[in-house]
Amino acid sequence: MQRYNSFNLIHKALRALMYDMAMTLQQTDFTDADEAEIALAKVETVIEQFEKHAYHEDTFMLPAIEAFEPDLVAKFEKEHVEDIELGNKLKTLLSVFRSVDLDEEKINCGSCISKAFRDFMIFNLEHMGKEESLINQALWKHYTDDELLELNARLTAGIPVQEKMFAAKWMLRSINKAEAINWLKGVKQTAPAYVFQSLFDLAENELPRHIRSEVQEAVLEIEMMN
Ligand SMILES: [Fe+2]
Repeated sequence: MQRYNSFNLIHKALRALMYDMAMTLQQTDFTDADEAEIALAKVETVIEQFEKHAYHEDTFMLPAIEAFEPDLVAKFEKEHVEDIELGNKLKTLLSVFRSVDLDEEKINCGSCISKAFRDFMIFNLEHMGKEESLINQALWKHYTDDELLELNARLTAGIPVQEKMFAAKWMLRSINKAEAINWLKGVKQTAPAYVFQSLFDLAENELPRHIRSEVQEAVLEIEMMN
């Protein structure tokens, strides 16, 4: 039986955010002030999202298994500290970039930012992969899927609406048709109507075009006329 993967939607969103960031950095001419500032602001957003994500995991997911797997929890808490250090290194480079004037300095600093972001991305891709195997195994061993869904509901209940909508946007951009249908149907059945409507409206713009109408019809349970 396929168990509930608490990380699936948010990790897909965070990976997509990093892939998009990596492309932006590759395409940025760091001597163009407007282009550079767009890239730098995006880097700040990515770092902020990962900091918030690590905080949510430290507050909800890791405490759930701490009593059973203290060594595993300590290992992941340490990785979260390492992640913050990689983010801080990037923030320092952003400050350096904003303090230089010459084109040559901007190009060199832009290269350093791109390299530091690659390190950040590689670390986080591996880190999230490990969470989905090791942390999930521990969660599945000690909790039922219903209990994990309840834990996830408690985690998301404390997240401000704006942060939730940002994550939802990147989730919708990053998931497959079946995942989108399950998610939206679940929200329709369990959340207040206005919450479902705002997510459904977001999906109208953010779901990949090739699955959009099929997802909408499945979620609204529109009969397909043959
Ligand atoms: Fe994590």
